[in-house]
Amino acid sequence: FHVTWDAASAEKGGYEHFMIKEIHEQPKAIKDTMTSRIMMDVDEVKLDDIKLTKEDLESISKIYIVACGTAYHAGIVGKYVIERLAKIPVEVDVASEFRYRNPLINKNTLMIVVSQSGETADTLAALRLAKEHGARVIAITNVVGSSVAREADDVLYTWAGPEIAVASTKAYVTQLIAMYIIALYLGRLNGNLSIEEFRLIRDEMLKLPEKAEYLLNQKETIQKFAATHYVHKDMFYIGRGLDFAVALEGALKIKEISYIHAEAYAAGELKHGPIALIDKGVPVIALATQEELFEKMLSNIKEVVARGAHVISFAFEGNDDISKVSDAVVYLPKTLSILAPVLSVIPLQLLAYYTAVERGCDVDKPRNLAKSVTVE
Ligand code: G6P
Repeated sequence: FHVTWDAASAEKGGYEHFMIKEIHEQPKAIKDTMTSRIMMDVDEVKLDDIKLTKEDLESISKIYIVACGTAYHAGIVGKYVIERLAKIPVEVDVASEFRYRNPLINKNTLMIVVSQSGETADTLAALRLAKEHGARVIAITNVVGSSVAREADDVLYTWAGPEIAVASTKAYVTQLIAMYIIALYLGRLNGNLSIEEFRLIRDEMLKLPEKAEYLLNQKETIQKFAATHYVHKDMFYIGRGLDFAVALEGALKIKEISYIHAEAYAAGELKHGPIALIDKGVPVIALATQEELFEKMLSNIKEVVARGAHVISFAFEGNDDISKVSDAVVYLPKTLSILAPVLSVIPLQLLAYYTAVERGCDVDKPRNLAKSVTVE
């Protein structure tokens, strides 16, 4: 009996790539990021790391969320949830744009920067610009003691653990959790979020790790879709509301690691351009997790199917109607619409992963990309 062992595969915990290992670490990462902040039967968010008082918050008229890449996509979800739960206007921007457009920042601005590494040059420059203009800055970062963490007024650490694969997965879901935590915190602090709604969201958040775990075991539909469609040159990701935010992240993942041209579109915008590109066999990835927008998404799916698209849809269990209009459906375990991104992104990460593997790409080290962009 002979065992072959090498250090590289041991590091990957038996997985073929860091990316797939990190995808599987998400249930734990989600749980760790909530630990001691969101707790069963505790009617408040515990944020010992953030010193923002009720009075400070009263002076805040606007929030900017600034980041790059995947972290920017977490910021888009952040805008939806903070506006919905805390009723404070939020603007999201990519750091490289924000820093050069003379943004309107003053002492009544709260800035949230999001950065896995805490070292991205543009994000750091945006943070410094905000501070120069007197804004208060909260950093969401995964690296303790990083530049962004050191220079911000308050830090909310994500507890994803080290992320090695260039394409971000577990850092993204923990950034989402950080956004929910901040939104709940601000909403309770300024009184715009009722205790009943707070409890509802808290209780559902605590169930997310288990639901993410369940989803990781439902890979067959994704693998099959990847094995059939990896040869395509273009893919379209569509969704509405929070699903659009997740579509952007799903499309980025497939671009980064499989080099397939992918575009994410707000499904309501299909008629304003992208539908011209849909013809026979084009893969369309449709997200339909937002309850109040479900019927609208069904119509959008029908529109692309009528033009020959091959559709894989993502919806909550129980929405059986969607299977009649889609080639394949991945059903997500039920949660609140507002929390759907944490679950719906997982099959999109898997789709990118299996597609890249089918294409023989270097999954963990995609061409031309770096894990951390520390120069402009
Ligand atoms: C690079 C990485 C991305 C990441 C982005 C922002 O492009 O490849 O995965 O989302 O930088 O990085 P940060 O460390 O600031 O989150």
